[in-house]
Amino acid sequence: MNANELIATLDRLGEEFLAAIQPLADEQAIRAAQAQFLGKKGKVSEVMKDLGKLAAGDRPLVGQAANRVKQVIEERTAAKLDDLVNVAAQADLARKVDVTLPARPAGGGRLHLMTQVRLEAVQIFSELGFVVADGPQIETDWHTFEALAIPKEHPARDMQDTFYITGDEILLRTHTSPVQVRTMLTQTPPIRIVAPGVVYRRDDDATHSPMFTQIEGLAVDKDISFADLKGVLIHFVSRFFQRDLEIRLRPSYFPFVEPGAEVDMQCSFCMGKPPKLSTCRVCKQTGWVEIGGSGMVDPEVFAHVKIDAEKYTGFAFGMGLERMAMLRHGVNDIKFYYEGDLRFLEQF
Ligand code: PHE
Repeated sequence: MNANELIATLDRLGEEFLAAIQPLADEQAIRAAQAQFLGKKGKVSEVMKDLGKLAAGDRPLVGQAANRVKQVIEERTAAKLDDLVNVAAQADLARKVDVTLPARPAGGGRLHLMTQVRLEAVQIFSELGFVVADGPQIETDWHTFEALAIPKEHPARDMQDTFYITGDEILLRTHTSPVQVRTMLTQTPPIRIVAPGVVYRRDDDATHSPMFTQIEGLAVDKDISFADLKGVLIHFVSRFFQRDLEIRLRPSYFPFVEPGAEVDMQCSFCMGKPPKLSTCRVCKQTGWVEIGGSGMVDPEVFAHVKIDAEKYTGFAFGMGLERMAMLRHGVNDIKFYYEGDLRFLEQF
């Protein structure tokens, strides 16, 4: 080919490219078309192989023609790619959004019923000056029993069906009372603590769960009396159930208190007056329900934790918090509290 023929061929390739790219509408195809003409083995390069055969004076003209064609191809390619972006943006804008549609409901979480009850109990006791104390759920035999005047072989150990972890020294606490022991070991009177937390016993039926929640209270100071204990319990029950309910302290035995008493409160369902013609399913017609144990700290416990029993006295109580939730909401199968069924939990 001579110079004029080469220039004509190059111009034709330019036209050919413009025709080829015209209908294309996706990026890959556009880039492929560009490569077909400008790539190393593209049509333009093929033609330019003949450049060397031309007379030196003819080469610049052909070179210019080749650059012109390359420029056209590159510009057109870039413009086509720009078009694609614009078309996509237009499509986005054209998509109709119905702003009047109702929003999707946001599922809000909430505190578990037992958490609500625990926080509320803590709140009420804190109004009386009690602060929260904590202790491990995996305990030693000493903190759980020995220091509370329940030596091995003591019949009172039968009251608490213990889960042992290793041998007979490490166990899951069966009550929150070891927190009393830990507190008295590290603090000096005056002491006023409540210890809410889960405890474990080998027990499992409609009213017992192998894991359940207690709240322990302990006050140690000069001149703490049984009347103080009763006053605190009456205040708690009245505040928690938001009505005046009476407390009854029934003499009972716990090795770590003397005297000891079981705590009953007036039934919050029938208000202590069971219906004559039907049955109060909560108090079984007695008008009273048991909510925990209590008493004056036994001097033997004080001796274990090195508190002078001549100088100080104290009271302690322990209550079941599932029982409190049950009395408030009338749910008497303890399983509901632990199944995690949202249909149940969402009601509180
Ligand atoms: N710790 C006892 C129990 O779980 C309850 C209790 C606590 C009794 C404090 C008296 C004083 O059975």
